[in-house]
Amino acid sequence: MLLDLLDKRCSVRDFSDKKISQEIINYILEAGRLSPSGGNEQPWKFGVINDKDLIIKISKIAYNQEWIASSNLLIVLCTTIVGDEKGGRDIQKARFPELKVEIEKMDKELYSKLNQEEHQTKIAGTHMVLAALENGIDSTWISYFKVTQLAKLLNLPKDFIPTEIIAFGYPKNRKEFVKKKSIDEIVFYNNDFKR
Ligand SMILES: Cc1cc2nc3c(=O)[nH]c(=O)nc-3n(C[C@H](O)[C@H](O)[C@H](O)COP(=O)(O)O)c2cc1C
Repeated sequence: MLLDLLDKRCSVRDFSDKKISQEIINYILEAGRLSPSGGNEQPWKFGVINDKDLIIKISKIAYNQEWIASSNLLIVLCTTIVGDEKGGRDIQKARFPELKVEIEKMDKELYSKLNQEEHQTKIAGTHMVLAALENGIDSTWISYFKVTQLAKLLNLPKDFIPTEIIAFGYPKNRKEFVKKKSIDEIVFYNNDFKR
């Protein structure tokens, strides 16, 4: 059941040397491939990083998060940037009509780096994390890294940026579960918003 799986999930940052088979990697990638996206645009590429030297370099780019080097598999979620000529800003103007003018004025490069395409990769990543866990593989999301440096290291074309990294592996040490907020703290019904 999905909730059992979610209950088991926690960020693991200490992986064993055991390699993940290509069959399982394919299963994880398939879970990402089947994700929904706005307009079914599928604005992503999934970079499979299984070269240890590259993984070590990436751990440095991720502000020296050394634990990353214990993983034998990183998946780098990359997103394509929808250009203005293809209506790249239209979705945000529609979502925030009161900010239409500001969105239009925003510097092109800054806008493209912050636009919503980036967030869509989190859906694919979430599926991947669960698909991995089904196979006894733990993971941790990584957002804390230098985006431009990673793009360069992976030879990404200019219209793609790496948005998230997920480190996968068989656990060596599984830490204590962190406490989650209760349903009462995070849910409201209808227009009865509660802090
Ligand atoms: C989008 C995202 C980015 C994250 N980036 C990092 C990161 O750069 N480094 C890290 O050690 N953990 C990172 N985490 C893991 C969080 O710290 C972790 O999910 C949170 O503490 C809750 O713990 P749990 O995953 O065990 O439930 C990230 C998690 C998410 C969802």
